[in-house]
Amino acid sequence: MDYNYDFIKACHGKPVSRTPVWLMRQAGRYLPQYRKIREKVAFLELCKTPELAAEVTLQPVDVLGVDAAILFSDILVPIEPMGQRLHYSPAPVLEPPVRSAADVDALRVLQPEQDVPFVLDTIRLLRRELEGRVPLIGFGGAPFTLACYMVEGAGSRHFLALKRLMYQAPEVYARLMEKITDTSIVYLRAQAEAGAQALQIFDSWGGILSPADYQRHVLPYSRRLLTSLGDLGIPLIHFVKGAGAMLDLVSMAGGQVIGLDWSIGLNRARMILGENVAVQGNLDPAVLLGRQDVIEREVRRILDENAGRPGHIFNLGHGILPQVPPENAAFLVDCVHRLS
Ligand code: CP3
Repeated sequence: MDYNYDFIKACHGKPVSRTPVWLMRQAGRYLPQYRKIREKVAFLELCKTPELAAEVTLQPVDVLGVDAAILFSDILVPIEPMGQRLHYSPAPVLEPPVRSAADVDALRVLQPEQDVPFVLDTIRLLRRELEGRVPLIGFGGAPFTLACYMVEGAGSRHFLALKRLMYQAPEVYARLMEKITDTSIVYLRAQAEAGAQALQIFDSWGGILSPADYQRHVLPYSRRLLTSLGDLGIPLIHFVKGAGAMLDLVSMAGGQVIGLDWSIGLNRARMILGENVAVQGNLDPAVLLGRQDVIEREVRRILDENAGRPGHIFNLGHGILPQVPPENAAFLVDCVHRLS
């Protein structure tokens, strides 16, 4: 096991020399180095070119000094080989949307080495280039969040097409979720086998459901996914945005580490989750638009709430905003290291 890294130690609830920190969506448009590459290469092409994907993965490691790298890709990348066309403009569009039993039956389950070799090549290349500097996190969307985009065909505020399918044709919804779960299992397993040292599941939209519907329509699939990856022996991080009021259910689905947005205080979250679960979070990403003394105050508050307990990875409660000044992101990382 990769016990040399504070990030991995914290995932396992072991003591660390200082609180590890990385930022969700840490490679991206707020970095001028990223924008420079994007001037020449479209986003999806960047994801499919291992040399460039590896280069942008390393940018925040070099610029910010974070304690982990996260593979540069997108949660929607494995959907294209399942059978929907995918493009970004810059928001994602998936065509045609999945709406019927026939649409679900037409989808294929992913074969990672054949369908997304560029993802696995990027991971292998990164492990060589990182030379053990920081661990590499692989990731995927949770089945529910992927279903949201596949059924809607795009992003949405309320995902009513998805909810309509879920409430009107629950058996079709269930069949879709099983197929996505099968894909996610082989996809994340392949990432680990290629060299990912931890895996994060992003359930960006899990919080749009009531706790009862989360339990019925999301939890069983996320639990099957996380359980199937258990034998890999690497940390599994489970992030559900908007789930402050149902962390008990999120934790029942699995993950050694539970990601927290900013809708619940860290101390309260840890009281609900208990001692055997690590946490990751939970700064409001908008704080990075503020003054540095405010950023420092908020870092201190979150570290104080954790009160020295093992098993805390500092992170934002959601992805970094494109408007953030890079020097504020670097200042945040520095604050976490200095104050912990
Ligand atoms: O964390 C990292 O740095 C790794 C890269 C990463 C991206 N997307 C790159 C990206 C990760 C982990 C993701 C996850 C992702 N993608 C999620 C889950 C996390 C979350 O934010 O809720 C979701 C919902 C998506 C889907 C997606 N991809 C959307 C809605 C968009 C467009 C709007 C937006 O937020 O940027 C993308 C595009 C995307 N994915 C970009 C990047 C850097 C911007 C593309 C560009 O350069 O124009």
